[in-house]
Amino acid sequence: MTKHILLAIESSCDETAAAVVREDGKVLSSIVASQHELHIEWGGVVPEIASRAHVRRILPVIKAALRDADCTPQDLHAVAVTTEPGLVGSLLVGLTAAKTMAMSLQIPLITVNHVEAHIYACGMGLSQSIYPCAGFVVSGGHTNLYDCRSAIECKLIGSTTDDAAGEAFDKVARILNLPYPGGPSIQKTALTGNPRRFKMPRPLLHSGKLDFSFSGLKTAVLYAARGVPGPDQLADTPADRVADLAAGFQEAAVEVLVEKCRLAVRQLGYSRLCVGGGVAANQMFREELTRMAKRERIEVLIAPLELCTDNAAMAAIAWDLLASGRVAGLDADVLPGLVRHDFRNRRPN
Ligand code: KG4
Ligand code: ZN
Repeated sequence: MTKHILLAIESSCDETAAAVVREDGKVLSSIVASQHELHIEWGGVVPEIASRAHVRRILPVIKAALRDADCTPQDLHAVAVTTEPGLVGSLLVGLTAAKTMAMSLQIPLITVNHVEAHIYACGMGLSQSIYPCAGFVVSGGHTNLYDCRSAIECKLIGSTTDDAAGEAFDKVARILNLPYPGGPSIQKTALTGNPRRFKMPRPLLHSGKLDFSFSGLKTAVLYAARGVPGPDQLADTPADRVADLAAGFQEAAVEVLVEKCRLAVRQLGYSRLCVGGGVAANQMFREELTRMAKRERIEVLIAPLELCTDNAAMAAIAWDLLASGRVAGLDADVLPGLVRHDFRNRRPN
């Protein structure tokens, strides 16, 4: 018997992506068209530029995903699309394409939560389920800890009070005149730096709570780079400071991220932690997480590198949604803001 396949579309931020995934979870194709080069000169994602680029790229990306999977639209059993959270204009491009295909092919439309998909990515390719687990999505838009009872029952238990971790990497890179996206360029620059030269704060490290704050750390880098505001403040960062600041920032950010993960797992009483999102690609973070997991005797699953940053393959979670009957109507809309899952999944008393 031939296995069913679905097409997944992802356009929540600055990657236009499409993938074909089989019902047993096998990824037959995965195309990611990154827009990084379009946003470099602005040091961050410009929503209007992102939406327009999605419009131009969505059809070629879908066609390439179908071609690589060696299938035609008529072979599809369903179409899945990210509808929350993300940039409104960007999400709408993906949703419009998905609705059009669902309507013309008369197949089910499944709407995917991008954050749940980032956690789901940790289990792709594994034979066993990763749930229940503590989930951590750490990216340019999120620094969220979840209590994940199943793929589609994730309750938010901790979040950032200001910048997301990836956003802090991007902003610090900008302060240091390093290219966007900041994460990879800070990681590379930090390799030659001395993380101890500048003393960096570890915001909320010992708060005992599952919340994060990165704006103070970012400001500490700014002051160490340029001096405190005033007549003597430097316009630019002296070259000899850049690597040391990148290393100091990275070490401080990673320490906080790992400690909050440890706390979350302890509080939830689970023995498994799943970490996804762009910042989970950070080498130092991956190493420190693994060390912490050994000390705590827990299992840590970090999404494979190609599934950390945005992609459509992780929308394979749509098979679980389909199995539980969560098919969307053609009136489905986008939900740009982060939905507090504790409310969405709350059952009536
Ligand atoms: O998951 P993602 O591709 O998009 C969002 O949903 O935000 O994450 C992008 C973020 C960016 O802020 C980028 O700087 C960060 O992930 N990032 C990294 C690394 N690679 C990407 N941060 C730290 N270290 C990295 N190696
Ligand atoms: Zn993401």
